[in-house]
Amino acid sequence: MLVFLVIIGVSFAVMASRLTGFVEEYLYQQRIRQNSLSLERLATTVAPLFQSAASDAVNETISQSAGEMGGRLIVVDQDGKIQFDSFSTLLGTRLQLREVTDVIAGSENSSWGVHTLQAGEEVADLIPSDSGSYISCCAARLIGTRGSLGALVYLFPISDLMDSLSAVERQLLVIFGIVAVAAMAAALVFSHILTRPIQSLSTAIQKMGGGDLSQRAPVQGSYEFRRLAENYNRMAEQLENLDQSRNQFVSNASHELKTPMTTMKILLENMLYDPNMPSDIRMEFLQDMNHEIDRLTHIVSDLLTLTKTDHKMEMHLEDMDLSECMQETVHSLQPMAESRNQTLQMKVSPGVRITADPNKVPQIIYNLVENALKYSNDGGRVQVGLSVRDKNAVITVRDNGVGISKDDQAHVFERFYRVDKARSRETGGTGLGLSIVSQFVKLHHGEITLESTPGKGSIFRVLLPLKQEGLAS
Ligand SMILES: Nc1ncnc2c1ncn2[C@@H]1O[C@H](COP(=O)(O)OP(=O)(O)OP(=O)(O)O)[C@@H](O)[C@H]1O
Ligand SMILES: [Mg+2]
Repeated sequence: MLVFLVIIGVSFAVMASRLTGFVEEYLYQQRIRQNSLSLERLATTVAPLFQSAASDAVNETISQSAGEMGGRLIVVDQDGKIQFDSFSTLLGTRLQLREVTDVIAGSENSSWGVHTLQAGEEVADLIPSDSGSYISCCAARLIGTRGSLGALVYLFPISDLMDSLSAVERQLLVIFGIVAVAAMAAALVFSHILTRPIQSLSTAIQKMGGGDLSQRAPVQGSYEFRRLAENYNRMAEQLENLDQSRNQFVSNASHELKTPMTTMKILLENMLYDPNMPSDIRMEFLQDMNHEIDRLTHIVSDLLTLTKTDHKMEMHLEDMDLSECMQETVHSLQPMAESRNQTLQMKVSPGVRITADPNKVPQIIYNLVENALKYSNDGGRVQVGLSVRDKNAVITVRDNGVGISKDDQAHVFERFYRVDKARSRETGGTGLGLSIVSQFVKLHHGEITLESTPGKGSIFRVLLPLKQEGLAS
């Protein structure tokens, strides 16, 4: 509003001063041209009378003309001395006004100017003081037969002219006042309209700061404000989703941790309250407890892995032999396959090298192959393959196990998601393995896909770029 007002004020001041300037000039020109013309005409009448020293005639002419014109008429000789005066008070004195000297000494035939009447100034005595504070002076050369005789000077008050000017100025001031008030009112209205979207956005942000993540800003106002509100809403939605998934994660994690704890507590209490428990049952209980502790350790280490990945834990990239890594990892799972009478086959192209973190890649392969074995029936067959396609290494893990339905396929990479909870519990799964796999693949700028038919089996495919120029180690 202030800026608005300053701009209007400055432009108005410039305009007003230009306008009064124009008016002033116009009024002066009008009045003075008229008076100069009359004076020059009068000078041609007075000149022969003055030359022939017809004093009475000169006096009569100037007195009469002064009465008609409404001012004072004075005749000065070539020396500037006053010879005739319509007021008859300054006879014999010298009239030292610029206009007079201009005409007598210079080449101009007429000259004019404006003087301010101030006490002590020479012009102060020229016109009665109640005539106002401005006077105009016109001088016209008196030309005789032998050249210049002196000058006819006409002094007249121009206060009326100055009054009109100050009236114009006053009017301009009033107009400025009205315009300023109108501009302020307009600025108020506009700034209110302009800032309304910001206000609603800031209210939404304030509420969000207070913990209410469901706050959305109304999309309104100009294009920029609409975009701002849209971006804010998008961000709010992401935050809300993040908050929800974090809550879900915490509640899932606590639940997962609570289950083995409860089991252990029951086992322990049984042993405590039954001191005469047969030793073989006691042993069995202890083994169960040991199993639960393993399970807890497994969950905690998986959770730690995931949290580290969330915080973009450091990647230690190295040039590594993926073929060798795959052979070793699959080999370590051979006993598990054998114990379940499953065949674990491998078809690995030799010498496939990638730039990757050698601690993470084996975990990707291990989790996928372990799942393939875990979720296949006894006697099942798991085929692991490695090939190169375009600029990617392609890891394939195929099984003929239980398979995953279309609905579940969309969720298996989520944390704690298990298709068949009862079965997973039996196999000791917590639903974290695939989310770790997918995080690791993402960290390597790779891609993971899943094809599966329930009852027939699943194929997990992982694409890892052979060279990872974009990754910092
Ligand atoms: N090859 C597969 N065949 C059928 N179902 C599978 C297969 N792999 C994963 N699943 C399903 O996806 C779910 C999630 O797998 P994920 O590896 O994340 O967890 P998990 O194996 O249950 O536990 P863990 O954290 O110990 O790996 C599994 O519980 C299982 O239901
Ligand atoms: Mg798993």
